Amino acid sequence: MSDKIKTIGVLTSGGDAPGMNAAIRAVVRTAIARGLKVKGIKRGYAGLLKEEIVDMDTRSVSDIIQRGGTILYTARCEEFRTAEGQEKGAEICRKHGIDGIVVIGGDGSFNGACKLANLGINTIGVPGTIDLDIACTDYTIGFDTAINTAMEAIDKIRDTSTSHERCSIIEVMGRSAGYIALWCGVANGAENILLPERYNGDEQEIINQIIENRKRGKTHHLIINAEGVGHSGSMAKRIEVATGIETRATILGHMQRGGSPTCMDRYYASMMGARAVELLCEGASNRVVAYKGGDFVDYDINEALAMKKDLPPFQYEVSKLLVR
Ligand code: ADP
Ligand code: F6P
Repeated sequence: MSDKIKTIGVLTSGGDAPGMNAAIRAVVRTAIARGLKVKGIKRGYAGLLKEEIVDMDTRSVSDIIQRGGTILYTARCEEFRTAEGQEKGAEICRKHGIDGIVVIGGDGSFNGACKLANLGINTIGVPGTIDLDIACTDYTIGFDTAINTAMEAIDKIRDTSTSHERCSIIEVMGRSAGYIALWCGVANGAENILLPERYNGDEQEIINQIIENRKRGKTHHLIINAEGVGHSGSMAKRIEVATGIETRATILGHMQRGGSPTCMDRYYASMMGARAVELLCEGASNRVVAYKGGDFVDYDINEALAMKKDLPPFQYEVSKLLVR
C-alpha cells in the first residue's frame, strides 16, 4: 500500500445514474477499512471549486445502496474546463489534505480527472452513466436500471397503443449513443429502432412498413427513437398524416435516470468503487476502472478517452430481423 495516500476524496459529476450511491458507499467503506480518511466533495467539480467538502464515515453512507440519484449531488462546471479552474481545484485538494480523488461520472468527468492528475492529484475514474457510452468498459453504472425503467414504461404504452390500434413513438435517452434504444427496442419488440449511430432519416421507409404491417394484421406499431435522433412529436404528426393511423409520441425523459438501482447496478458499482480505492492505495493515478472480459480492470484515462465505441454490428442486425 502506498504510504503517500492518507486521505481520499470522492465526487459524482455529469449526469447522475442509479448506482452512484452504491459506488460512493463502496469507496467510503473500503477506504476506511484500509485506514484511510474520506472526504465527500459535493456537486462535482463545481463543489470542489467552492470547497463544499465534508468528512465521511461509514455511517454517512448508511441506507443509500438502494437509493437512486447521488447523495453527493452532481453538477456541470464550466470553470473547471479552464486551466485556472483546474489549478484552483488541485490547490483546494492540497489545502484539504486530499491525496487522491475518485471521480464517478462519464467521459467529460474523466477529462477533468485527467487534468487534476497532471497537476499532481492522484485520480481514478469510475464509469457512471446510463448511456453505456464509455468505450473502455462493457458496463457503466446506471445502464441496467435505466433500460429496465424504460422497458417497463414502454410495455405500458404498448398496452394502450394496441387497444387503440395506434402507432406509438417512444423517445428514450441517449444523445449520441443508441444503447438504451437498442436494448429496449429488442426487449419491447419494437417495429423500428432509430439510433443516432445508424438512422439514415428515411421516414418514408418507416411509413411504408407501418402501412404494410397494418395490411398484414398488426394492430400496433412501436417505434423506439433515441434522443439523439429526436423530433418525436413532429415525426408522429407526419406519420399520422401519411398513414392515416393515429400516432402518439411519448418522451420518457429523466425518469430513466432515477429510481432504485437494480441488483446488477448495485453490484458493479460496489466492485468498481472498491477497485478505485485499491488502485489509489497501489499508488496509481490517471486510471479508469472498467469491466472487460468478465473482470474488473483499469486503463490509462488518456488511452480510455481515445478509444472508440460503436454498436455491435451483430446485435444491430438481429434487432432488425426480430420485427417481422
Ligand atoms: P459526463 O461526465 O457525464 O460525460 P459532462 O460531459 O457534462 O458529463 O462533464 C462533466 C464535467 O466534467 C463538466 O461540467 C466539466 O466540469 C468537467 N469536464 C468535462 N470536460 C472537461 C475537460 N476537457 N477539461 C476539464 N474538465 C472537463
Ligand atoms: O445521462 C445521460 C443523458 O441522458 C444523455 O443521454 C443526455 O444527453 C443527457 O443525459 C441529458 O442530461 P441533462 O438533461 O441532465 O442535461
